[in-house]
Amino acid sequence: MAFKSKLPHQEISIFSVMSKLAQEEKAINLSQGFPNFSCDPILIDLVRKYMVEGKNQYAPMPGLAALRQIIAHKIKSLYQVDIDFEKEITITAGATQAIYNSIQTVVHTGDEVIIIEPAYDSYSPAIKMCGGIPVAYQLNAPNFKVDWDELGKLISDKTKMLIINTPHNPTATRLDEDDLQKLNDLLADKDIFVLSDEVYEHLVYDQQKHVTLLSYPELYKRSFVSYSFGKTFHATGWKMGYLVAPPILTAEFRKIHQFTVFSVNTPIQHALAEYMQEPNNYLELGDFYQKKRDLFLEAMNGCSLKPLPSAGTYYALFDYSEVSDQKELDFAKEVTRKFKVATIPVSAFYSQKIENRVLRICFAKKEETLIEAASRLSRL
Ligand SMILES: Cc1ncc(COP(=O)(O)O)c(C=O)c1O
Repeated sequence: MAFKSKLPHQEISIFSVMSKLAQEEKAINLSQGFPNFSCDPILIDLVRKYMVEGKNQYAPMPGLAALRQIIAHKIKSLYQVDIDFEKEITITAGATQAIYNSIQTVVHTGDEVIIIEPAYDSYSPAIKMCGGIPVAYQLNAPNFKVDWDELGKLISDKTKMLIINTPHNPTATRLDEDDLQKLNDLLADKDIFVLSDEVYEHLVYDQQKHVTLLSYPELYKRSFVSYSFGKTFHATGWKMGYLVAPPILTAEFRKIHQFTVFSVNTPIQHALAEYMQEPNNYLELGDFYQKKRDLFLEAMNGCSLKPLPSAGTYYALFDYSEVSDQKELDFAKEVTRKFKVATIPVSAFYSQKIENRVLRICFAKKEETLIEAASRLSRL
């Protein structure tokens, strides 16, 4: 039967391509962004406990009150911001659904949405699915800093939304107070919504602090802010996350949320609500991953791939311009085949496939995996 594709130019995700190749080549897979170690057994026991207790039916549509309350408490204690858990927090099926529904909530056919590339791959298709037009602002190696004046030049009378992501996947950079203040000033007199994707909020290194959009009241009024339990609690396969947005936007968001999933996994929501009573369960995450980053960088010392700074997320970029002038995808494939380590070409995160000769590795892996991968890469 003939049909018209809604995403006619959508390619297979680079993660599937590189993971498949990693499997075929029996390579260490540092491409996809998930841990190869298990999540806390206490959390698993809590999920089991609530399943056995019979918490297996639909949760309330916005999410369990106890979970939303503890999230509001976390936001207050970390960022000194008051969030009304009833009206401003919705539990979602991963950050992906929070992102998708936020875009659906405000973007109409013909609206433009500014994204900052290289960009996480779900933004653009979500914009296109509601007839919107992604407009890319391009970050450049090696600093990948946003020039807010340049970005401002992309704003038109069709711009409906701007998407930021901090800490940033794939460049491992983060926005600081100056960036958020500039964003605040840029949008002050404009009717433009913001989606701030903050799934790596706890993965910030070197004594820095995550700067959240929630701390900017004027920006927050127009914003959707997405988070992921998967990233925070080493359980990406559970697809659990949440959205924080002001009451008027949350009300509209929930109209869509209730007809995409209605509500998400009940026993896991109960388990998370109890597990988050202990703040160290998320506060220790930065140190935990910083140790992995440092271990990997140390093991890569002397390798001809040159690391760029990793200020946040569980990724690091490596510049290979001294080793090869191949395109990133070709080089990543060659490294997988010859050295048995799979990485991600950053060009895949640009709509125009911009080449900076950098590869992204994910260091959310066991120590022995990181050491073995570094030893293989050192032969390059
Ligand atoms: C920047 C960014 N946003 C959102 C997500 C998706 O999060 P979740 O797995 O909770 O849907 C990811 C996952 O890699 C990500 O890197």
